[in-house]
Amino acid sequence: MAEKSKILFIGGTGYIGKFIVEAGIKAGHPSFVLVRESTVADPIKGQLVEKFKNSGATLVYGDLYNHESLVKAIKQVDVVISTVGALQLADQTKIIAAIKEAGNVKRFFPSEFGNDVDRQNAVEPAKSSFAIKAQIRRAIEAEGIPYTYVPCNCFAGYFLPTLCQPGVSAPPRDKITIIGDGNVKAVFNNEVDIAAYTIKAVDDRRTLNKILFIRPPQNTYTFNELVALWEKKIGKTLEKVYVPEEQVLKDIQEAPFPLNIVMSINHSILVKGDQTNFTIDPSFGVEASELYPDVKYITVEEYLQQFV
Ligand SMILES: NC(=O)c1ccc[n+]([C@@H]2O[C@H](COP(=O)([O-])OP(=O)(O)OC[C@H]3O[C@@H](n4cnc5c(N)ncnc54)[C@H](OP(=O)(O)O)[C@@H]3O)[C@@H](O)[C@H]2O)c1
Repeated sequence: MAEKSKILFIGGTGYIGKFIVEAGIKAGHPSFVLVRESTVADPIKGQLVEKFKNSGATLVYGDLYNHESLVKAIKQVDVVISTVGALQLADQTKIIAAIKEAGNVKRFFPSEFGNDVDRQNAVEPAKSSFAIKAQIRRAIEAEGIPYTYVPCNCFAGYFLPTLCQPGVSAPPRDKITIIGDGNVKAVFNNEVDIAAYTIKAVDDRRTLNKILFIRPPQNTYTFNELVALWEKKIGKTLEKVYVPEEQVLKDIQEAPFPLNIVMSINHSILVKGDQTNFTIDPSFGVEASELYPDVKYITVEEYLQQFV
């Protein structure tokens, strides 16, 4: 069997990053995690870093804003996976520059892990945030760096514990607000599964220079179907308040930062149907659950059970 690629994780201590690092280690990839010294010293993040180390990962000290450190880290690996957060998305040009200088990288996964940014109808402020990810795609392609983009759709942990209700802490049991008509499909994936699919793609030729969509059929629901599933689970019918798109757009404009970001992302997903309103053409993409049927993903049905 071919040797597993060595992977450098940038942003491995972040929300989604930690799942992907763990999946990389579990799958037997020699795993290198770029960490900042301040993060290692942090009481909580330091424990996570220690856990990575104890699981067999190699820590590499560095910073996105220290070019030398990036080049040095990248030279040790074959594949780079970035999961940097919103504030660093545009600065992934620094990773691109370091990959070019290092000259040895077989594949780069930029920080995506959301909607497909080349196929979306978002309004501001989500629109600009998606545009940054699209610009990073164009920069990677212009430099001829081999890539895989992973639009994994909704993190289950961000959307399902509240049933897509901003500002609440548990799934509603009496009344629920549904934006739009609730009839467009969205996709909700467990973070461990997102990580497993991402790592499967690392050494897979079928995902080279392709978009890996994570759209498992059992995790694809309209808002109305999601509410119906929840109602069945709790044995109760909820009062439903439908908000027409015109009102949703007005509410986004009036909402303060950062609530307006969450609301505009929800509009793209739940009103425009941007996760499912196109067909995955083999010329640009592949679907993860079709490619890797051996991954026994957690279904939305199973995931919601913990809140009953
Ligand atoms: N699909 C969804 O539902 C969903 C939800 C949220 C986010 N996302 C997407 O997921 C991706 C990752 O977001 P996230 O929320 O997981 O990120 P996050 O938790 O904010 O983590 C950011 C990571 O970047 C690292 N970082 C920050 N500054 C750095 C620097 N100067 N040098 C090196 N590393 C640095 C952080 O390291 P430290 O630990 O040292 O700070 C951390 O590991 C983004 O593209 C985001 O848009 C998707």
